Amino acid sequence: MMTAILDDRDDLRLVGARVYSDDKDGTDLGELLGRDPIGVVATTDVDAILGLDADCVLYTPRTAHVDDVCALLASGKNVATTAFMFHPRRMDQADRDRVLAACEKGRSSVHGSGINPGNLSGVLPLALSGMSRTIDKITLQERADWSVYESTGITFDNMAFGEPVDSISPTATDFLAFNSSIFTEQVWFLGDALNADLDEVTATVEAVAAQQDHQIFEHLLQAGTTAGQRWNWRGLRDGETLVEIETLWTVGNEYPGHWPKPRHGWTLTIEGDPSMQTHFVSLASFSRAASMEEHVRSANVATAMQVLNAVPAVCEAPPGFATSATLPLIRSGSGFTRRQP
Ligand SMILES: NC(=O)c1ccc[n+]([C@@H]2O[C@H](COP(=O)([O-])OP(=O)(O)OC[C@H]3O[C@@H](n4cnc5c(N)ncnc54)[C@H](OP(=O)(O)O)[C@@H]3O)[C@@H](O)[C@H]2O)c1
Repeated sequence: MMTAILDDRDDLRLVGARVYSDDKDGTDLGELLGRDPIGVVATTDVDAILGLDADCVLYTPRTAHVDDVCALLASGKNVATTAFMFHPRRMDQADRDRVLAACEKGRSSVHGSGINPGNLSGVLPLALSGMSRTIDKITLQERADWSVYESTGITFDNMAFGEPVDSISPTATDFLAFNSSIFTEQVWFLGDALNADLDEVTATVEAVAAQQDHQIFEHLLQAGTTAGQRWNWRGLRDGETLVEIETLWTVGNEYPGHWPKPRHGWTLTIEGDPSMQTHFVSLASFSRAASMEEHVRSANVATAMQVLNAVPAVCEAPPGFATSATLPLIRSGSGFTRRQP
């Protein structure tokens, strides 16, 4: 996000950054990016961030806190986040009330989006639904192997890969419950946006064990521990599944024979009149050779750009929640233009 602001955007200016580690505290942001200094230093001091005269904060920590967002909103800054607040109507009510009070105080707004949850589970299905006469079922399948995802804190500490299979459930840890809640929210989002009148959204997970050891960056994932997680979030009406998000996640790339076999990436299927299907994959390039690291990074770029590109619209939105259903269609802020070096 920082390099995109510095390199591609005349309309955005970087005025500060919060870091979480002491060794980055006080370091120039340019140096953190491996470049020349830009004259803006990173800080661990939250009050310094709250005191900045900024229009919008991009909030993308590993572990998100509603209190952090409330403080930013109450200080008058809009917030665009990849972490949560995708469908406020179905958020915990006490949290929602706190966020709305902070928005009111700061005359600010907050928007949560990304790739999934975000564009592929919100914007894209709604865009395709514009061609629908009737809809019977919407399914989004995400197939990903996380072996090359460099945020191993998320893979092992948060998502509990490498832990015993019987320790994985939608409520096993605070993070698994949090992660499940944001996909549950996405199912409600589509149901609410398309008049599904869902009775409930259920969450289930099947964890499968590794057949052999796998070295994943600095982590050894041991045979017998969790190497696959198949999650299903189902929105039901009268016992029938109308909206479903299924994730087929592996680490070490062993693939259980009994799992469905969509292509890597995201497969969105709308059963109805007409029935439609689209497969999404992001790569570093379709025309030049690129390393696996670059290809993997492309999904991170997509996640980050979906909220960075939303910043002008979030700043213009009225105080309160701004969602993928209420904001205008988010387009690339720089598009084909290139800044002069
Ligand atoms: N919506 C979507 O499609 C989507 C897709 C991918 C990720 N996400 C979400 O986006 C966020 C960022 O993902 P990421 O892959 O960039 O994560 P990450 O690399 O693991 O962490 C991002 C930053 O969080 C800070 N951090 C470290 N420890 C922390 C802690 N205990 N509490 C809070 N922050 C801490 C670190 O900042 P410093 O190094 O500067 O100290 C780190 O660089 C996560 O919330 C993730 O769940 C959303």
